[in-house]
Amino acid sequence: MYSEKVMDHFMNPRNVGEIENADGVGEVGNAKCGDIMKIYLKIENDIIKDAKFKTFGCGAAVATSSMATELVIGKTIDEALKITNKAVAEALDGLPPVKMHCSNLAEEGIKAAIEDYLKKTGRLSKECESEVCGRRCDDLHHHLDEEDDD
Ligand code: FES
Repeated sequence: MYSEKVMDHFMNPRNVGEIENADGVGEVGNAKCGDIMKIYLKIENDIIKDAKFKTFGCGAAVATSSMATELVIGKTIDEALKITNKAVAEALDGLPPVKMHCSNLAEEGIKAAIEDYLKKTGRLSKECESEVCGRRCDDLHHHLDEEDDD
């Protein structure tokens, strides 16, 4: 049912744990199963230097988070925002369809951690932090794009 890569990342997950004084921390829940994920990022000059995760999710969540943290380390935050749960699943040679929802935790956790970083560095627009928007921003790219235009 699972690929060798999924089994490897499940049995020997990379980057499990916490980062002290992380630059961005994201905590998300899976709407489908109620499981929780916490992602920690160390970011310098918009480059992800380190990433760690903790999850109450299932084996597929562990494997996808392990792979996702490996994929984002060394990337810019802009590049990291473009990594989808599908890309993570593909890097693991696929997931059973019923387990695809588990891979959302890693993608959303990373986005939430980057959002936290943008907030902490004062780069999330007031509008997006306001009650009007309230929820987590689905498109953080516009913040980064705005900066590029400067
Ligand atoms: Fe909840 Fe997989 S069943 S993360």
